[in-house]
Amino acid sequence: MCGIVGVIGNPKAAEIILTGLGRLEYRGYDSSGLAVLNNLGTLEVHKAVGKLQSLLDKVKATPPSAASIGIGHTRWATHGSPTEENAHPHTGRLGGVNLAVVHNGIIENYQELRAELSPHGAVFRTETDTETIPFAIANALEYGGGHFIPAVRAATQKFRGNFAFVTLKEGDTTQLVGTRRGAPLCIGVGTGANYFASDPFALAGVTSKFIFLEDDDIATLTPTSITIQDAKGNPVTRPTKTLDLSEDMAGKAGYKHFMLKEIHEQPAVVTRILQAYTSAKTMQPTLPLEGLNLAEIPFINIIACGTASYAGMLGKYFLEQFARVPVNVDVASEFRYRNPPFPPGGIFIGVSQSGETADTLAALEIAKAAGQKIIVFTNAPNSSMARAADVVVDLMAGREIAVASTKAFTAMCLNLALFALQVGAARGLPVAEVATQITALRTLPTYLTNQLNQPPAQFEELAERLTAARSMLYLGRGTLTPIAFEGALKIKEISYIHAAAYASGEMKHGPIALVDKTLPVINLASGTDGLFEKTVSNLKEVEARHGQVILVTDDEGAKQLDDATRSKLTLIKVPTVPPILAPMVFTVPLQLLAYHTATAKGTDVDQPRNLAKSVTVE
Ligand code: AGP
Repeated sequence: MCGIVGVIGNPKAAEIILTGLGRLEYRGYDSSGLAVLNNLGTLEVHKAVGKLQSLLDKVKATPPSAASIGIGHTRWATHGSPTEENAHPHTGRLGGVNLAVVHNGIIENYQELRAELSPHGAVFRTETDTETIPFAIANALEYGGGHFIPAVRAATQKFRGNFAFVTLKEGDTTQLVGTRRGAPLCIGVGTGANYFASDPFALAGVTSKFIFLEDDDIATLTPTSITIQDAKGNPVTRPTKTLDLSEDMAGKAGYKHFMLKEIHEQPAVVTRILQAYTSAKTMQPTLPLEGLNLAEIPFINIIACGTASYAGMLGKYFLEQFARVPVNVDVASEFRYRNPPFPPGGIFIGVSQSGETADTLAALEIAKAAGQKIIVFTNAPNSSMARAADVVVDLMAGREIAVASTKAFTAMCLNLALFALQVGAARGLPVAEVATQITALRTLPTYLTNQLNQPPAQFEELAERLTAARSMLYLGRGTLTPIAFEGALKIKEISYIHAAAYASGEMKHGPIALVDKTLPVINLASGTDGLFEKTVSNLKEVEARHGQVILVTDDEGAKQLDDATRSKLTLIKVPTVPPILAPMVFTVPLQLLAYHTATAKGTDVDQPRNLAKSVTVE
C-alpha cells in the first residue's frame, strides 16, 4: 500500500522518482507527489490527484528545478480522502526547520500527536496521520539539540502503528533519512548516488544492489555513503543483496492488461515450480524444508488473507488427504486477535504473494513468539515475512503487477500440493503414491496451455451477459470449494459485481433464497469425484427457481448430463484431469470470466477502484 521512492546524488532525481512511482503505482493510485531540494536547497513540492499520469502531466507543464535529492509517493488513502492536500509528500515547518516526508502505513496515535504538537506551533492542514511525522521530527529537532537522526529516533519512539517513511530537510542537500517499522523499506545502493524504495522493483534499471532494513533501523544516505543505526542507536551493517530485476521490467508483452498477461504466464510458472521443487528422477517433491521434523508435526495453522487464504483452504484439503495431519485455516485478521492455542511442535504457515501483508505478518509474529516453526510461502523472498520465517518457500510466480492475483494463486495452490505430498511422504505416504501424484502434477503445464490457447469467444459472450448481473453465486464441492471462493473474489475485485461463494451443500441452508431469474449461479463440478450427481441436483434446484445456471465441468461431467439438463444451462468445459490438478484447471475459466466481464464493463482491470496490491495496513 502506497509506494515510496527516494534519491540522493543523482542529478536526474525527479525522473528516477517518477519512473519508480510508475512501477509502484499498482500499490496505490489515488494520488501522487514528489518533493525535491533544488540546488540551492529550496524545497519544491508537486502533487496531483488520481493516477500517476496526472502528476506526470503536471510536472511536464511545470517541471521541477534541477535537483539531485528528492522523494516521491503514490498513495492509497487511509486517513483523508484522495485530495491534493492529502497527497504526499507532507511538510512540517517549525521554527527554522522545514521537513518533507513520504510515508507508507498508519501512525495510529496521530490524534494524540496532533494535540501534543499543536501547542508547539504545528499547524495541521490535512486530514492525514502522515502530517504528524514531519512536525514530530521538526519538534524534536527544535527542542532536542538539532541533530537529525536523534530527532527522527525521538519522533519514531512516539509513533504507534506500522510505518515506513523517508524524509529530507529543507536547506540540507547532503542527506536523506529513512526508517521503518512493520512496513517495507529498502536501500538501493548506487555509485555516487543512493536510493530508498518501498520495493526494489521501483529501482529496476537504476541499481541491482539492495539492503533491506530491519524494524526501527534508521538509515542515512548521502551520495557516497550509507549508515544505519538500529533501534538502540548502535551502528549496524545489514547485508547487501544483488537482485536480478530484468524480467520484472518486461511490461505487458503485447497483452492489453497485466492481468491477462499473468493469466497466460501460468503454464510457465507451473513449469518453473515443478522443475525447481520436484525430482524428475525420483518423482518426489523437493521443497526446501530443511530443519523441520515433518514426520512429527502435530498440527498446522495456515494463515493468510484474501486470495492467499483460499489457496490455504485448498492446502488443508491436500494436507488432510496426503499427510493425514490436522490443519486449521484462517484469515490473518481474525487469527491475530483470537488468542488461539498453539500445540507444542506445531507449524504455522503464512501464505502471501507480497510477503508484506500486515495482518499475516502480525499473525506470524504471534505464532513465532508462541514457539511455532514458521514456514512462509511467498513470492517475495526478501520480504518482511520471509525474513521472519524459519523456512521460506519461494512461490516462483514471477512479479505479479495486476492487483487481482492470478498466477500467484496458482503458484500457491501448486506449492501447497507439493508441500502436502512432501509431508505425506515423511509420514508414511507410499513412495509410489507420491510418485503418481507428482507424475500427474507434471502434466499441469500442458493442460493449462491448452486451456489458454482456446479462443476467448465463449468467455466474451458470457461476460456480455454477466455485465447486467448485480449479484452472483459461486458453488463448489471438495477441492473446488476454495476455487469457488477465489472465483467470486476475482469477479468482485475487477468487475464490481457482488458475488458470494458457498460449498454447494450449503445452498439449501440459506443462499437459495437469493435465486431468481436475475441471478447467475456458477457451479464448479468434476465428473470424476463421485459427487457429480449431487451437483446436478443442486443445479436443478437453481434451475427450478429460474436462476441462470452456469456449469463449469470437465469432459467426464459433461458426458453425465442429459440433453434436457444441458439445454437449460451454460456449459464451460475444462479437460478431465487427475484430481490433484482439478483446482488449478478449474481456476482458469473463472479468471478469464472475471477478466472479460471487467473489460466488457470497461473497468480498470489492473488497478481496480479502492484496492491496492500489497495491504501493509490493518
Ligand atoms: C487478490 O486478488 C487480492 N488482491 C487480495 O485478496 C490478496 O490476495 C490479499 O491482499 C493477500 O495478499 P498477499 O498474498 O500479498 O498477502
